[in-house]
Amino acid sequence: MMTELSLNVLDVAENSLRAKADFIQILLEINSIQDTLTIIITDNGVGMSEQQVVQAQDPFYTTRTTRNVGLGIPFFKYAAESTGGRFSIHSSPGKGTKVQAEFKLSHIDRMPLGDMTSTIYTLITFNIHVDFLYTYIVDDKSFSLDTREFRKILGNIPFHEPEVASFIKEYLEVNKMEVDHGKTY
Ligand SMILES: Nc1ncnc2c1ncn2[C@@H]1O[C@H](COP(=O)(O)OP(=O)(O)OP(=O)(O)O)[C@@H](O)[C@H]1O
Ligand SMILES: [Mg+2]
Repeated sequence: MMTELSLNVLDVAENSLRAKADFIQILLEINSIQDTLTIIITDNGVGMSEQQVVQAQDPFYTTRTTRNVGLGIPFFKYAAESTGGRFSIHSSPGKGTKVQAEFKLSHIDRMPLGDMTSTIYTLITFNIHVDFLYTYIVDDKSFSLDTREFRKILGNIPFHEPEVASFIKEYLEVNKMEVDHGKTY
């Protein structure tokens, strides 16, 4: 059972990777006035038909061949809706998929966010040929990490190279601190 939203994000992004995406956008927005926590994951993978979008939200549907349940999407949907929030998937075959989850920030059943820095760091350093755009917003403050920009500067140095990997980790940590002052959500 997943206990942190950051692990849900990892799972949903893994769907995008399995769908052969080479560009994945992850947006995390906390709005304390609206009392919402919003997560949007957009990919340019193979996408799904309307029927597959409906099926993906059913725990007993998976295109995995190793087992016959797929829980990533149903868990994420349940986690959002049980806080009185909203969940949606928009997808088109050949173009990509957008998964949107909105949580009520202060709801007692809202799962803690967990370690988003580790999730983003893991995705980037384990999938060095995929580009990621991560945006973190807390009220009027925000930052983005765009691996396409890093690539321009680094040239052929891969993201799993120790110095680059630790730079990415530090970049995530320092900017997170500027946005949320170390507050945990
Ligand atoms: N971004 C996506 N692009 C294309 N297909 C997707 C995407 N996300 C989900 N799917 C489809 O929906 C199915 C269900 O996804 P879900 O994450 O719920 O389960 P799973 O990935 O099959 O298994 P699990 O997440 O439990 O390891 C996937 O098997 C896949 O066919
Ligand atoms: Mg999955």
